[in-house]
Amino acid sequence: MDWKELYKEKTMTAEDAVKKIKSGNRVVIGHAVGEPSYIVEKMVQNKEQYENVEIVHMVAMGKGEYAQPGMEKHFRHNSIFVGGCTRDAVNEGRGDFTPCFFYEVPKLFKTTLPVDVALIQVTPPDSHGYCCLGVSIDYTMTAAKEAKLVIAQVNDQMPRTMGDTFLHVSEIDCFVEHSAPIIELGLPKIGDIERAIGENCAALVQDGDTLQLGIGAIPDAVLLFLKDKKDLGIHSEMFSDGVVELVEAGVVTNCKKTFHPGKMIVTFLMGTKRLYDFVNNNPAVEMYSVDYVNNPTVIMKNDNMVSINSCVQVDLMGQVCSESVGLKQISGVGGQVDFVRGATLSKNGKSIMAMPSTAAKGSISKIVPLLDEGATVTTSRNDVDYVVTEFGVAKLKGKTLKQRAAALINIAHPKFRDELNEEFEKRFSQN
Ligand code: COA
Repeated sequence: MDWKELYKEKTMTAEDAVKKIKSGNRVVIGHAVGEPSYIVEKMVQNKEQYENVEIVHMVAMGKGEYAQPGMEKHFRHNSIFVGGCTRDAVNEGRGDFTPCFFYEVPKLFKTTLPVDVALIQVTPPDSHGYCCLGVSIDYTMTAAKEAKLVIAQVNDQMPRTMGDTFLHVSEIDCFVEHSAPIIELGLPKIGDIERAIGENCAALVQDGDTLQLGIGAIPDAVLLFLKDKKDLGIHSEMFSDGVVELVEAGVVTNCKKTFHPGKMIVTFLMGTKRLYDFVNNNPAVEMYSVDYVNNPTVIMKNDNMVSINSCVQVDLMGQVCSESVGLKQISGVGGQVDFVRGATLSKNGKSIMAMPSTAAKGSISKIVPLLDEGATVTTSRNDVDYVVTEFGVAKLKGKTLKQRAAALINIAHPKFRDELNEEFEKRFSQN
């Protein structure tokens, strides 16, 4: 059948599409700003028809109504990365958390977490009948390929991105046409502390390096201090508006990349409309599934790979907690360890863990003798390399436990150094 006829046949209202979801189904929602919010909203409105629908999601940027109190009978949220709207559900026992490296999530959908329904968002079909998943390829593409039922919100505001980003009309079961702006991520506030951290990280970046940057104020602050560098490249889980500025300033050229030269490689995007306009039909940006982009054995093919991520706490051995405060899950591993390991394997690679030296308005040191009880070891002491705060850089790889502790105390906030030094004396005075 001609794809246009097929498309017409499969186009329906959101109300009709969500009736196809059945009690007990596992529903995977498109990641981050790729979430088809209109369909999710209609699914929640149809809640009385469902019991025990499992909602699997990572960074949830929508309203997360399925995870709110009162929804327990209808929906059970299974989170792979707790976001603002799903944090309480997981920590209050109304939801579950599944630890998983980001690059392994597609494998989960092919093995232990088979997908009944994928809710995705796509561009209208092109002249060949292909719809583009736009800003979120990550696990969303695999979920759509594995699902028994694929429901797509067709949004003419979704950018058309390049790479392995397309599904044919024949691969999607239901189309719901609904135009809406793509969710935007506000620009973070960059204060003096973030600027100092950014400057310390930027000093570790050389001309020609390939970068991975996480989300938030610290990665954005690093970008501010890269304006004098030359020929940087991008191979990253995601990027935001700061990278667009560096491309426009001629700093990011990708021409020195040893893998995918000339291209920015990424698995999802999150930013403002400026970013979404930049990536639309832009052949310099290629998007692939996360099991490719975040696979350490793929990342390592970039020589001079530098990964920059953030964390909650680092102990004096260099164990890094990045996803919980004690037992309270506040995010997830995401792609942090994927990139720490990829950068470590890369020729001349470096991995950087960058964080303010304190939390809770300066009342708590993030460099601690021992991680809090219940805290997750996200990046192990064997994996960690550089730790950066506003007070400097600690290089840990190849250092003894004693040398690590000394290097970390040196970049702790001065008001906590005395108590950290007491711990140092207790631990190492016999050595
Ligand atoms: N003790 C107690 N509370 C702490 C803390 C500490 N050592 N460190 C942070 N917190 C609290 C903050 O006060 C804040 O609380 P609030 O939400 O009530 O204000 C909360 O934890 C989040 O901390 P914040 O510093 O604002 O987070 P952030 O937005 O800068 O993100 C991480 C930092 C570590 C949570 C984030 O980088 C992350 O999730 N990393 C893991 C995933 C990753 O690296 N992915 C790869 C790239 S996308």
